[in-house]
Amino acid sequence: MPQTNLLLGVNIDHVVTLRQARFRATPDSPNAEPSVLAAALAAEVAGADSITVHLRADRRHIQDADVYLLRKSIATKLNLEMGNTQEILEIALQVRPDFVCMVPENREEVTTEGGLDVAAQRDALRRTVKALSDNGTRVSMFVDPDLEQIRASAEIGAAMIELHTGTFANHTGAEREAEVERLCAAAELGHTLGLQVNAGHGLTTKNLPALWPVPHLAELNIGHHLVSRAVFIGLHGAVRELLAVMATYRN
Ligand code: PXP
Repeated sequence: MPQTNLLLGVNIDHVVTLRQARFRATPDSPNAEPSVLAAALAAEVAGADSITVHLRADRRHIQDADVYLLRKSIATKLNLEMGNTQEILEIALQVRPDFVCMVPENREEVTTEGGLDVAAQRDALRRTVKALSDNGTRVSMFVDPDLEQIRASAEIGAAMIELHTGTFANHTGAEREAEVERLCAAAELGHTLGLQVNAGHGLTTKNLPALWPVPHLAELNIGHHLVSRAVFIGLHGAVRELLAVMATYRN
């Protein structure tokens, strides 16, 4: 297996997007495929360090039953992405995932578009972070590489930040280099404040090497690219291919 000091969280939401495209009304049918559990286990066998799912308010892909099934079945860590609502918080407190990543959620968006505005919602987020942390879950904030958001994340008691790499992934050349500089500054500050620094969104085997100047990265969360590659080479092959690139990261 490729050796890397960077951890990989495999986001399997889009395996479930495919299942829901056909089995939205009957996700529990014995005919429903592809299996979320088989995907998680394949990712683990290939070397994933955690399995990430986003239980959205609109339940467009992952369903409640998927989260409970994964919690009792996977061998690695479960990372639950969630918006800060009472409904999802109650589920998270029951499920007790190893990690929660707090994300902004907007019903119209195709995917999580921007980072969470932690600074603007300190009190509400502080309460959620405390409830989850007291329940044994480590909490992360999905934030843009914006120093105010990093400081606010530390101040409200988060253990980790996940830097939103969407802008990085959507640009090339000078614009991407400028974003890498912002990510470097954000990672430095997060590390100085004692936060674990993760990153995710839009990452692929192609663009990862351009991210490598960013220091202190502990974990990457990657979904769409892996599920897309899996169509052609299988999820096991896709995870291995990605881990081989991740092995070239030097902090
Ligand atoms: N991290 C977070 C917090 C996300 O919301 C997402 C998208 O669901 C990802 C990582 C994975 O992004 P992608 O599917 O583009 O790899």
